[in-house]
Amino acid sequence: MDERAIHTWVTLGVIATAVPTLLYLLFRTAPYGRHGRAGWGPTVSPRFGWILMESPAVLAWLGIYLAGPNRAEMAPLALAAMWQAHYIHRTFIFPFRMRGDGRRMPLVIAASGAFFNVINAYVNARWVSTLGSYPDTWLTSPWFLAGAAVFAVGMAVNLHADTVLLNLRAPGETGYKIPRGGLYRYLTCPNYFGELLEWLGWTLATASLAGLSFFVFTAGNLLPRALAHHRWYREKFPEYPAERRALIPGVL
Ligand SMILES: NC(=O)c1ccc[n+]([C@@H]2O[C@H](COP(=O)([O-])OP(=O)(O)OC[C@H]3O[C@@H](n4cnc5c(N)ncnc54)[C@H](OP(=O)(O)O)[C@@H]3O)[C@@H](O)[C@H]2O)c1
Repeated sequence: MDERAIHTWVTLGVIATAVPTLLYLLFRTAPYGRHGRAGWGPTVSPRFGWILMESPAVLAWLGIYLAGPNRAEMAPLALAAMWQAHYIHRTFIFPFRMRGDGRRMPLVIAASGAFFNVINAYVNARWVSTLGSYPDTWLTSPWFLAGAAVFAVGMAVNLHADTVLLNLRAPGETGYKIPRGGLYRYLTCPNYFGELLEWLGWTLATASLAGLSFFVFTAGNLLPRALAHHRWYREKFPEYPAERRALIPGVL
């Protein structure tokens, strides 16, 4: 089997895994943050957990990208810049903006996230710098332009929504409050909505099965978590705004 076939099978494997992941998470919410619970083995601080979990999305991705023959071409470089802009923030900035570090994260969550990120790095970085074909003219194609625009909007929504959450706690505080403003008028989890837009944009900008696999996997991960957050807010806060949807404005 040549590498292109192996890459396709791994990519299809990621898509296939999204379905059981979604079904499992609909019944058992991933045990970190407000849904944390005992019985998941050794724990680490959330800050360390996030760095451990997301590092492969920066470092393994970069290593695989730089090993590819197209690494110095303009369009692959632009795609790499999009990916790294998201993940450098997520890995090395976001964890240091978190407050309420008293809650612990199971090591198994961080380790399984890191494992997924290694596979995802192979699927996406290998595609962008080796197996895919992105000549300079790709940068002016409708796929890239539309995808980059959706990605940029998604990143702005995600960053703003996370910032609102991270500012809800004063230093040293650990509880939860109702977030307000921006897309919180309509949604419980605009940060997840923004994240989904980002990977939808990536799928369009790369016009690839590799990109689609990450979008589908992210949806399988974040949809059940958004529904769990939504139920949790409604149970905890009787005054929680009834008109808010969980994840997608006007839909869900
Ligand atoms: N691509 C993917 O598959 C994927 C998967 C997971 C997450 N992500 C992204 O990673 C980021 C973080 O995800 P997450 O699941 O940790 O998000 P989250 O549950 O919304 O929490 C984000 C941060 O805000 C705090 N927070 C949340 N709601 C709060 C409230 N009502 N009052 C006070 N503080 C609050 C949390 O504290 P606590 O930790 O104490 O709850 C945490 O530090 C998001 O941008 C998400 O899109 C991506």
